[in-house]
Amino acid sequence: MRLRSLRSRLSVLFFGVTLVAVGVMFFYVTPQLESSLREQKYRSLARTARDFTPRIEQAVVRQDTARQLNQAVGEIGDATSTRVTVLTVGNGSEGVQPSAILSESTAEVRRDGLRYDVAVDAATSGREAQGSEYRGSVLLGQVAEPIRTGGKVSHVVVFMSPLSEVQGNVALIRRQILIAGGLGLLLALGGGFVVSNAIARRVKLLEQGAERVAGGDFTAVFPAESEDELGQLARALDDMQRQLAEVETARRRFITTASHELRTPIFSLGGFLELLEDEDLDDDTRREFVAVVREQVARLGKLATDLLDLSKLEAGSLVLRPERTDLGELASRVTSEFGPALGKHESDLALRVAGHRIEAVCDPERVAQILRILLDNALTHTPVGTDVVVTAARRNGAVRLGVSDCGPGLRDDAVDRVFEPFFTSDDAQGSGLGLAIARELAECMHGSLDVDSVPGRTTFSFELPA
Ligand SMILES: Nc1ncnc2c1ncn2[C@@H]1O[C@H](COP(=O)(O)OP(=O)(O)O)[C@@H](O)[C@H]1O
Ligand SMILES: [Mg+2]
Repeated sequence: MRLRSLRSRLSVLFFGVTLVAVGVMFFYVTPQLESSLREQKYRSLARTARDFTPRIEQAVVRQDTARQLNQAVGEIGDATSTRVTVLTVGNGSEGVQPSAILSESTAEVRRDGLRYDVAVDAATSGREAQGSEYRGSVLLGQVAEPIRTGGKVSHVVVFMSPLSEVQGNVALIRRQILIAGGLGLLLALGGGFVVSNAIARRVKLLEQGAERVAGGDFTAVFPAESEDELGQLARALDDMQRQLAEVETARRRFITTASHELRTPIFSLGGFLELLEDEDLDDDTRREFVAVVREQVARLGKLATDLLDLSKLEAGSLVLRPERTDLGELASRVTSEFGPALGKHESDLALRVAGHRIEAVCDPERVAQILRILLDNALTHTPVGTDVVVTAARRNGAVRLGVSDCGPGLRDDAVDRVFEPFFTSDDAQGSGLGLAIARELAECMHGSLDVDSVPGRTTFSFELPA
């Protein structure tokens, strides 16, 4: 039997649950019902017995004639719709025994093969006894009451009534349960099939969509027709598809731009090399060309290093060497490297460290790299003579390094995109990888890098948890 599919499992489950319910009704509830009906029957029989035995007792004690006794017993039998039998208790060798039928509510005395075991019980114990006995195929409920004369049990009155009514009712209920159960099982099978079919169909659609996405097709439709778990799954898959599509687009754009960025300087290098091969070139021009070639090679080298850095960062394979670092000291060391560049740009740099020992656990080399990228930008993408301020401070449990310049700032649309790889918004001939690398570095150290720019003040702030 193949029970792998959701469909067959659900169908079997529906069927099984219904079967168990029917089984419980049939084998547990109906027997209980039968015994409680039977008990009720015995209780009413016992009540009759207690109510009418005194009348018979009086007749026996008064030593009424057989005719009088028979009449009384017959009347009681008619009035209570029970069969009433009075037995005499003899002193046989096996102890107290109801030996003979003295009177009978039926027209004539008939033993009918009855053993009257209840009467034996009542005679022996001297108390009321209950039991049952078959007459032919009819089960009779019996209640026996002892009658005493002279302190000894001398007679026993047995009240009998068929239990067939109870049996009939219970059999009817059993039959009904079987019919209803059969119908229920059919319904469960059919319903189970319909429900599980619908679920299986929806799962299949999701599976087909997922397969298309896995194959690189991001136009799959995940039908989220309802609010249930499958609907939620469909929506989650749809989200996943959208994000995968975005990642894929970004990857393609990255490769296109990277190869373009690499190809342009290589072509231009090729052109200059061809020019240099010209024998008639005078020395001055040759030197000029060599200088250009050297500059291009340096740019290519930097681009290659940056690309490698970025890919390492994105792959998460960058190894950090965290140590307790004083960021004020680090800022002062890095800014001092920029002395010559500042001179060339005719800018002043102010370093403001709020308090001393602004410490954090971080990789100092990587933090220095971020700071260099920011300082380089502040001098490259601003007009000559723009002043720069570097700050280091502690704020709300974090440490913050800021690089501000008084340049014209970024356009609104550029603010959102400066951290994208290859994004450049002016003709400073940069590769556009600097800020992308800086932000990846910051995030690797669980920090953040953000920009805030208005004309006259552009601030890049780098925050690290302290
Ligand atoms: N301090 C700044 N002032 C104005 N524009 C800036 C500043 N820093 C960065 N930018 C803009 O952001 C772009 C991306 O910077 P970056 O990623 O470092 O690349 P690159 O410096 O190679 O161009 C720059 O091309 C420039 O347009
Ligand atoms: Mg830069």
